[in-house]
Amino acid sequence: MCGIMAYAGREAALPVVLDGLQRLEYRGYDSAGVAIVIGGDDDGHRSHGSPTDEHAAKIVVRRAPGKLRRLSDLVAADVAAGRLDGRVAIGHTRWATHGPPTEANAHPHADCRGETVVTHNGIVENYEVLRVQLIAEGHCFTSETDSEVIAHLIERYVAGGADFPEAARRALGEIRGANAITAIHARRPEMIVAGRTGHAGGLVVGRGEGEMYVASDLPAMLERTREVVFLESGDMAIVTAGGARFQRLDGTPVERGFVTVPYDPTAAVKGGYRHFMLKEIHDQPRALLDTLQGRLLGHAPWIRLEDVCLAPEAVRALERVVFVACGTAWHAGLVGKFLVEEIAGIPVEVDYASEFRYRRPLLTPRTLVVAISQSGETADTLVSLEAARQAGAQVLGVVNVVGSQAARLTAESAGVLYTRAGPEIGVASTKAFTAQLAALALLALHLGSVRGALDAPAALALVAALEALPDQAAAVLGHDGAAGAAVAASASPVGPLGQPASATHDEYESLASRYHRAKDVLYIGRGIQYPIALEGALKLKEISYIHAEGYPAGEMKHGPIALIDRDVPVVAIAVRDRVYEKMLANMQEARAREGQVIAIGSRGDTALAAKASAVLEVPETHPLLAPVLTTIPLQLLAYAIAVRRGCDVDQPRNLAKSVTVE
Ligand code: G6P
Repeated sequence: MCGIMAYAGREAALPVVLDGLQRLEYRGYDSAGVAIVIGGDDDGHRSHGSPTDEHAAKIVVRRAPGKLRRLSDLVAADVAAGRLDGRVAIGHTRWATHGPPTEANAHPHADCRGETVVTHNGIVENYEVLRVQLIAEGHCFTSETDSEVIAHLIERYVAGGADFPEAARRALGEIRGANAITAIHARRPEMIVAGRTGHAGGLVVGRGEGEMYVASDLPAMLERTREVVFLESGDMAIVTAGGARFQRLDGTPVERGFVTVPYDPTAAVKGGYRHFMLKEIHDQPRALLDTLQGRLLGHAPWIRLEDVCLAPEAVRALERVVFVACGTAWHAGLVGKFLVEEIAGIPVEVDYASEFRYRRPLLTPRTLVVAISQSGETADTLVSLEAARQAGAQVLGVVNVVGSQAARLTAESAGVLYTRAGPEIGVASTKAFTAQLAALALLALHLGSVRGALDAPAALALVAALEALPDQAAAVLGHDGAAGAAVAASASPVGPLGQPASATHDEYESLASRYHRAKDVLYIGRGIQYPIALEGALKLKEISYIHAEGYPAGEMKHGPIALIDRDVPVVAIAVRDRVYEKMLANMQEARAREGQVIAIGSRGDTALAAKASAVLEVPETHPLLAPVLTTIPLQLLAYAIAVRRGCDVDQPRNLAKSVTVE
């Protein structure tokens, strides 16, 4: 989940790499580093001599613990004085796995002579064995990381007479696990070698005019090029300013065609909001609109899903659906279970990808395994998909990032259902989640319709409710409508929370001032709102570091009620649905123990106001779609509390946006 960015071209490479890293910082921000090739012959003709050759290039490495800003400050004087003026550079932002986030453990890592320099994302599973071997051969290690072995392996093969790309290929062949690397070498100063092993740690090669890029994710280069190649697992790219050639790790050359990616880079800027997270919360009406647009029909078959390619007979033959996902996406899967079981009548299981992959799930060709993932790059989710495919199940992706690995993997099977939420930068997922809920409703309707499981009035009611959702989400946010949301995101002046001043969020500010010192918060819900209680609790703990737990309200009396006293706020989701009365009873139980109840309720529910310290209202919708709306106040509440506590909302400690390690 670290971020990699590399550049070879006509411009000074360092600013390009630093800019790319800044756009990747959501992948990790424990430390950052760059390596720049200085001197040497840019076209590489004169550079095969000894490293002491006065014409040979030298590689300068600069690293700093902490966020990228510290690295930028560190190199600022050198950059201004033109001392780091090379045309080829690689860079890295780290999310620590092996070794604490010190300067010594920051990437890039060099070999003993400082000739081979490497950045790495992933985990070298056999690094201990390799490290022992390399030390026995006389190599000196300066970090505690698994990554450093790669630099020394390349050094070993170069010393044995191999050219740099060949040495890198052999090194990549020795490491186990899911890994992505870039490497440079002082004797090939014109060249960057990039490579991937295993099913995680994506790498993208981008092409410009006389300049090339390599990065772990698209946002790093989208401002500069949209022509890209996604490296496959087991691919290697040899990149110079003039272009790239590709080969498999067994040495066979391969053709990889560049594709043009559709994202609008302006979507990834804050647009007047104080934090990406807040911008993304306010972007939800637009994200929902885009996710639904063109997919709803006013008549049977009700839904059109352009990239889902399950044949109707395969849908009718389905015996089971299994959702696999991590984090927030797993909560979407829990909601998806209600949707698919109720709408399509197919039994559903929901599994954490990190659990699914280590058990022996009973899969058949009549099982549809659906991976839900914002990034499409989460290591455990990818491995689960691969395992499901190998076990003969059909696999489908509900994915946000176009062309991500999950999307490419599932495109060959049951297809992809893109969520169209647009780039999500805040580490805490918001708009991707509600877009996933909308997409899962579409999927359930599609499956139900093909199987003849729902009658026309039921289908019509759901379609109408889906159509109304973007505007209802906008209303929760205080916008005029879904279109109004788009305008608000770009133009309005900024209010106290950082949102456009037109949106009224005073109630969240006042709740934050009352509850920001809480040490524990309980979130309760029932039925389809129970996963939303989990999601609300996750949002709060991720960004405010307050301990929070989501619980099915009916289970309170089997343990958690013991925690309640006047210092433990209870957030209760109590919209008017079939368990509404039960929720009211659970709220009473909390209040009887001096618990302060914050209720999320249906608009105009006066009965609720009498049973809670505060009520956050949402418009009424179809009960199966209500989670989309009840999520939004929980996001705003977590946000307001985190801001009040002075937390780093977009980059919470210890977390990363894309978890590309197991
Ligand atoms: C990380 C992120 C979460 C996200 C989870 C799954 O933990 O911080 O926000 O829900 O990964 O990511 P995915 O990209 O697969 O949805």
